Amino acid sequence: MALALYRKYRPQTFAEVVGQEHVTEPLINAIRAGRLNHAYLFSGPRGCGKTSSARILARSLNCAQGPTAEPCGECNSCRSLAADGHGSVDVIEIDAASHGGVDDARELRERAVFAPVESRYKIYIIDEAHMVTAQGFNALLKLVEEPPSYVLFIFATTEPDKVLPTIRSRTHHYPFRLIPPPAMRELCKKLCVEEGANVADDVYPLVVRSGGGSARDTLSVLDQLIAGAGAEGVTYERAAALLGVTDAGLLDEMCEAFAAADGAQVMEVVERVVEGGHDPRRFAGDLLERLRDLIVLTQVPDAASSGLIDAPADQLSKMTSQATRMGTSTLTRMAEVVADGLAGMRGATAPRLLLELACVRAILPGSDESMAGLLQRLESLEQRGASAVAAPAAPVARPAERPVERPAAPAPAPEPVPTPAGKPDPSPEPEPEPEAAAPVSPPAPAPEPAAGGVTAASIRRQWDRIMMAMKDRKRTTAAILSEATVADASDGEVVLVFKHAFHAGALQKEPAYGSVVEVLGEVLGGTWKLRCEVGEAAQIPKPPPKAQAAQPPRQRPQAQTIEEPPPEDYDEPSADDPVAPGSFGTSEEQAVKLLADAFGAKQIRAN
Ligand SMILES: Nc1ncnc2c1ncn2[C@@H]1O[C@H](COP(=O)(O)OP(=O)(O)O)[C@@H](O)[C@H]1O
Ligand SMILES: [Mg+2]
Ligand SMILES: [Zn+2]
Repeated sequence: MALALYRKYRPQTFAEVVGQEHVTEPLINAIRAGRLNHAYLFSGPRGCGKTSSARILARSLNCAQGPTAEPCGECNSCRSLAADGHGSVDVIEIDAASHGGVDDARELRERAVFAPVESRYKIYIIDEAHMVTAQGFNALLKLVEEPPSYVLFIFATTEPDKVLPTIRSRTHHYPFRLIPPPAMRELCKKLCVEEGANVADDVYPLVVRSGGGSARDTLSVLDQLIAGAGAEGVTYERAAALLGVTDAGLLDEMCEAFAAADGAQVMEVVERVVEGGHDPRRFAGDLLERLRDLIVLTQVPDAASSGLIDAPADQLSKMTSQATRMGTSTLTRMAEVVADGLAGMRGATAPRLLLELACVRAILPGSDESMAGLLQRLESLEQRGASAVAAPAAPVARPAERPVERPAAPAPAPEPVPTPAGKPDPSPEPEPEPEAAAPVSPPAPAPEPAAGGVTAASIRRQWDRIMMAMKDRKRTTAAILSEATVADASDGEVVLVFKHAFHAGALQKEPAYGSVVEVLGEVLGGTWKLRCEVGEAAQIPKPPPKAQAAQPPRQRPQAQTIEEPPPEDYDEPSADDPVAPGSFGTSEEQAVKLLADAFGAKQIRAN
């Protein structure tokens, strides 16, 4: 039988102990400087390198060329303490978990009076030291307090608090930590290369996550996946299924639906979660983690390189795009709503319904009156106020990340483009330009037959292909397109929403417009027009019912400013409109009503 990875690859030098530099570096320095202590305490979670490091320290101290942080590997001591060595009489390892602590401790005390046989030190490694009984510690106490010059103790434990304080205070304490994801991923990759195992790149984050920071657990998972792999190696699908994690694709789709505030797609994703045999609770938990990652991305632009987020590069660029499109406050509120939903699912008999409710609530800031929901709405009101007051003066910095709202149709008044000031903005804001010169959106196009069966949701699902085709054609246009959320697709027109007018304006001009339209045709079939809006997808009007199909598009509510009274045909958001903010009350009943009205859901009585 093959040796388990975590046994086969036990670190043999401090350099091989990954992710514990805060411990190994000071240890190496202490050894080099000859500042040694008679007792060491290595604490930390299981499987993060305590026992391995205790053995490395013993080997370092007893090397004939030492004490040295780089044991020679040649001398008697080094050879006997190597991974395949027979052990050294002077290094005594006691596993407190499997021995009657006190007897061992007495015996140990008696044996300690004899000097080391062939090495510099007589080293006792007392592993799982929290299992040593109070009596056992008391028996050791005298020895630890006044050890002969040649005796050295290394205690290793997951629970340093259980080590008798009088003993603990004599030790140099080195706390080991859970291994950070990037270091763990590198370790896994390295071992896979050495093993000649073919593991897909996107499998590593799954393995790393399921190992929870313990190298031993992570390597066990990896072991199992490699053992079960077919000729194609370890694939993402295999790994995801075996580890029971939610396919990142489903999370992506849900986030896209969130970004577009598309209730129908939200319901469709939930449907597929359930159809795929996934537990709604698990999905909600994974979704929450994803929202957390997105929030981190809005706050820490270099989250990936600093190890706060662990995902392959292409996944990361998708997530970055999702994060910029939604913004911190929206994401934070969504995370709260999903967390509430998750809490409610515990022990619930109809977790699916609760998942649906939570997800639909997440896209409807108007449907709850929590502080966060109110703040979100207040924020948008303030922004409207700010742009109204500011126009037509110089750009005004605003505290939040909501984009400036521009009317969908060309407006007569020049409007400045304020720069969001809440956080560093990666995209350059353009100089304010007279709108008359560069309308963000052309007037309503003549309706055209929609290419068969293409919907906003189906375009979002093919977005990767569209982006790929666009990248092949023109990288700069692709970069702008990556900022877009698909808000709608009907009558041969795709509506894209951008956070920044700069991006919307750029795509509306040639040659960008033409190449995007061509790519859409290539990937989706048919001929397409493009409309670029600025704002949040939730606020973009969905196509009006058939009777009104010929009317020009409605002005978005948020585009109203003091200088620009609503056009005659402006529709007030009505209580019947499923996406109108403020049209719902606070209670769950109203959310259920929404599900019933908007999506034809039937309430299942859960209790
Ligand atoms: N920091 C680490 N770097 C590399 N491998 C590690 C590390 N920590 C643990 N491992 C792996 O896990 C196995 C068990 O580690 P071990 O040192 O016994 O952990 P602990 O004593 O902290 O429970 C090792 O053989 C090794 O394969
Ligand atoms: Mg151990
Ligand atoms: Zn040596």
